[in-house]
Amino acid sequence: MPSRIMLNPGDIATLDLTDPRTHAEYDLSEVWRHLRTTQPFHWHPSTGGAPGFWVVSRHADVSEIYRDNKRFTSEKGNVLTTLLMGGDSAAGMMAAVTDGPRHSDLRKILLKAFSPRALEGVVDNIRQSTRALVAEAIARGECDFAADVAADIPLTAICDLMGVPEADRAKVLELTATALGNDGAAQSPAAAWQARNDILAYFGTLAAERRANPGDDAISVLATGTLEGKPLTMDEIVVNCYSLIIGGDETSRMSMTGGVLALIEHPDQWQALKSGQADIATAVDEILRWTTPALHFGRTALEDIPVGTQGQVIKAGDIVTLWNDSANMDEDVFEAPERFRLDRTPNKHLSFGYGSHFCLGAYLGRAEIAAMLSALRDLVASVELRGDTRRNYSNLLSGVTSLPVTLRGE
Ligand code: HEM
Repeated sequence: MPSRIMLNPGDIATLDLTDPRTHAEYDLSEVWRHLRTTQPFHWHPSTGGAPGFWVVSRHADVSEIYRDNKRFTSEKGNVLTTLLMGGDSAAGMMAAVTDGPRHSDLRKILLKAFSPRALEGVVDNIRQSTRALVAEAIARGECDFAADVAADIPLTAICDLMGVPEADRAKVLELTATALGNDGAAQSPAAAWQARNDILAYFGTLAAERRANPGDDAISVLATGTLEGKPLTMDEIVVNCYSLIIGGDETSRMSMTGGVLALIEHPDQWQALKSGQADIATAVDEILRWTTPALHFGRTALEDIPVGTQGQVIKAGDIVTLWNDSANMDEDVFEAPERFRLDRTPNKHLSFGYGSHFCLGAYLGRAEIAAMLSALRDLVASVELRGDTRRNYSNLLSGVTSLPVTLRGE
């Protein structure tokens, strides 16, 4: 991967944060630093006929808006793509784009699937399969860490969580890759749309089976749950199943792969991991901060809100985007934020969001990264880059989609 080109504050006037290339090909750290200091609420002009939107870059403001679900809503979309299209077809049905009491009720149902008892087996399996994948990679000597190790772990965990039969897993993985557009810059929107519909139809079939014959997996929990005294509709069930995949697959993969790259680029931190000096739980959070797999989330303002010190007003109906990658590098919150330090504490990163929509899969995501770090520490003597890496093209999901490495065993 050629290193990303550093953009300067002078480039802000022409910056297009909606363009996937901006994030894949350019380093925005100087731009973010400048915005945090001089324009913490920056108005991004409209692009390609879509509306303009606010860009919020400081940790304090991003957290505040995440927490404020009275004056900001997720029901008109929570990511740039849907916000700019004017809404999300799953609004009011899928937890991430539902607010108010309905959202709390949906979260309560979903939380049953994330209970410690439900997750115990899933996490055990994550540990075992991660060790096995790393051991296989060592035996081969060379691998693409993204495709050969990280790709399988999150989706296997989500499939375990949902009780997806083994035989269907390869198909679910392929459809997910297409639906989320992580096949490179040339992803066709029609193929993505078709793949999304195919996944929804597949979950519909599973949900109908589980309604008749429930287990304790997430699909059964949704298929037997009630909202305002009524069973969830089939649409509500399938979009919430789908949300576990869109929420938990790519994000976790990006953090694991990005974590390995960060360790390669910071040999002192690799040593800290190997010597046992680095506490795994603390290291997991630094990897989450450093990689920030979800670049942004967004909201729509429900009323006029004065902001900042420059007399600006967010108007009712305005789109407001919250940039986690900037907030996680905010020097007001993180000491020497540009340093990757596995022993960083405190570490109030916003990689899982904040407030009422705080990531439901945070425990699972952390468990996956922890399993990877333990496997690397115990089984791998050295890891080296052996070719070009490739970055994801997206304005939402940031990270490395190909990481060719040589792994040597202990
Ligand atoms: C919500 C990030 C893993 C399921 C969120 C949000 C963020 C996030 C930032 C907040 C969205 C908002 O405020 O609009 C991440 C990252 C992960 C990860 C960085 C991995 C490193 C997972 C996993 C699952 C999951 C493993 C499930 C299997 C969800 C769900 C929501 C959510 C269902 C919506 C919660 C709600 O609206 O109440 N995630 N996530 N995530 N995440 Fe995650």
